Amino acid sequence: MENILKGLNVYLIGMMGSGKTTVGKLLAKRLQYRFLDTDCLIENVTHKTINQIFAEEGETYFRQLENRILAEVSTYIRCVIATGGGIILKQENWSYLHHGMIIWLDTPAEVLVQRLAEDQTRPLLQKGDLLDKLTNLIAQRQSLYQQADLTITIKSHQTPNEILEQIMQLIPSKLKPEIDANLN
Ligand code: S3P
Repeated sequence: MENILKGLNVYLIGMMGSGKTTVGKLLAKRLQYRFLDTDCLIENVTHKTINQIFAEEGETYFRQLENRILAEVSTYIRCVIATGGGIILKQENWSYLHHGMIIWLDTPAEVLVQRLAEDQTRPLLQKGDLLDKLTNLIAQRQSLYQQADLTITIKSHQTPNEILEQIMQLIPSKLKPEIDANLN
């Protein structure tokens, strides 16, 4: 079961606070894959926090960095990659994401609000009403997230391990059937 993906990367997409990092680490462990997080890679490369990059260079610059980091990691194998919530906004990023299996963690806004109420690390959420902001972002992004290979609809009471099991159960249904080498 753990080798079922045969090295294919897994990309976790979804809103800020949807659980990409927590679930991604569990999934990587189960698959015996490496875990990577595009935001962390950006912070490591720039020696700046995401907040600093947005404040000093702006969102457009951040999106360029995100695009470059994704291009790089898409050349790796055997990785679970937690992506930033806005990675789906750039059309070009989809060509990289499609190198692997794309899993959307579809987490309700009410759950995101609870998780992000005290958060100070997401520059897009620092001003205004949190629920309004999240609801607007979800409305803008929903049709993009829906392009994932696999949608995991998350319920408020689910634990990360339960979500992991749900993913592991659904992965086989999304794999292309193997062509039998002996067929001809
Ligand atoms: C963003 C999500 C963040 C980070 C940046 C922008 C977004 O990542 O990339 O603050 O546009 O949704 P997480 O989804 O890991 O919080």
